[in-house]
Amino acid sequence: MNRIEIALGQRSYPVLVGASLLDQAQHWLPLIPPVPLVIFTNERVAPLYLETLRGALTGREVHTFILPDGEAEKSFANYQGALEFLAQKGIRRDACLLALGGGVIGDLCGFVAASWMRGIRFVQFPTTLLAQVDASVGGKTAINLPAGKNLVGAFHQPSLVVADVDTLKTLDEREYRAGLAEVLKYGAIRDPELIELMEQQVTALHQRDAALLIDLVSRSVEHKASVVAEDEREAGVRATLNFGHSFGHAIEALTDYTRFLHGEAVAIGMVAASHLSEQRGLCAAGAAGRLSQLLQQLNLPVTMPADLDTDDLLECMGLDKKNMTGTRRLILLEALGRACIDSDSRDEQIRQAIDETR
Ligand code: NAD
Ligand code: GLY
Repeated sequence: MNRIEIALGQRSYPVLVGASLLDQAQHWLPLIPPVPLVIFTNERVAPLYLETLRGALTGREVHTFILPDGEAEKSFANYQGALEFLAQKGIRRDACLLALGGGVIGDLCGFVAASWMRGIRFVQFPTTLLAQVDASVGGKTAINLPAGKNLVGAFHQPSLVVADVDTLKTLDEREYRAGLAEVLKYGAIRDPELIELMEQQVTALHQRDAALLIDLVSRSVEHKASVVAEDEREAGVRATLNFGHSFGHAIEALTDYTRFLHGEAVAIGMVAASHLSEQRGLCAAGAAGRLSQLLQQLNLPVTMPADLDTDDLLECMGLDKKNMTGTRRLILLEALGRACIDSDSRDEQIRQAIDETR
């Protein structure tokens, strides 16, 4: 088992990464105080892992709040329903919420924890690759509104993250691959060796080799830990975690969030952002080709959908949440393994990068 510290002063916490962690409670139960616990999970994850988690918590006061599956459930209605559940169960400030699931459950449970009685403890048990390498670490919590994703939320750090890579065995193939795109993102923005490792281990990646996954999740969390410790509230370097996301969000929005998983759209976005970096002369030629080749070996999409209009993509990117008013901020590459924040790309350059990705 690996233990990575998220160093945030009084809000510091450990991330434990290993195999069979859910049922080996001796590693993490001592880190959860003897207070009432409320598990948040969903109808897909509950039959797979709820009994194991509850078994590890024998003897404790445990309540369970189970939501239907899906991004649509990260809603205001379910947020309200969760608060009413806590009120009905008499949950007080000393309690601790446990998020068992992917990013949807983690984000919703985290926002409930951030706001219930002005903020209570919560622990993340992420069960998707995306949640293990990204969503469960760093304290961004949110729900969606009909007007847009993640529009309401708070920064609220968990007090512990327990990432059991064995849970990744039951993930749908597409969900697993989408998570791999986010792992590769860390390689692209700050870890050239991680890219080499993934290039060498394509077969083991397809096989979901546990030792390799512990290594990849741990390395990803170490990167996220150091970025978040430096810039918890995204005033600077944390924005580099959004590499590929401006193009990716535009692709997701224009396809109504139904055709691509987030990580798939980010995969295409990373290729487009690499083309733009090359064209701007920020990074040497070849980065986009190498990234694209590895993504294809991982069965991820790398080409901009032909039916998406370049003007629509540009317009959508202008509305991206990461942009400061009046400028279009993009995360580009100075090299494969080193990101930069760019505000100087012109529309025609972005258009050309989109065309090169078609
Ligand atoms: P998700 O939570 O919807 O999980 C994907 C699917 O996998 C769901 O159907 C889920 O029920 C299922 N699932 C979860 N664990 C499983 C397992 N072990 N075996 C089988 N099926 C399993 O989606 P996600 O990709 O984990 O997360 C996406 C969400 O995370 C989005 O809402 C996004 O906004 C958010 N997010 C948040 C952050 C952050 O920093 N807070 C970062 C990235 C993404
Ligand atoms: N997922 C990007 C971040 O946590 O900042």
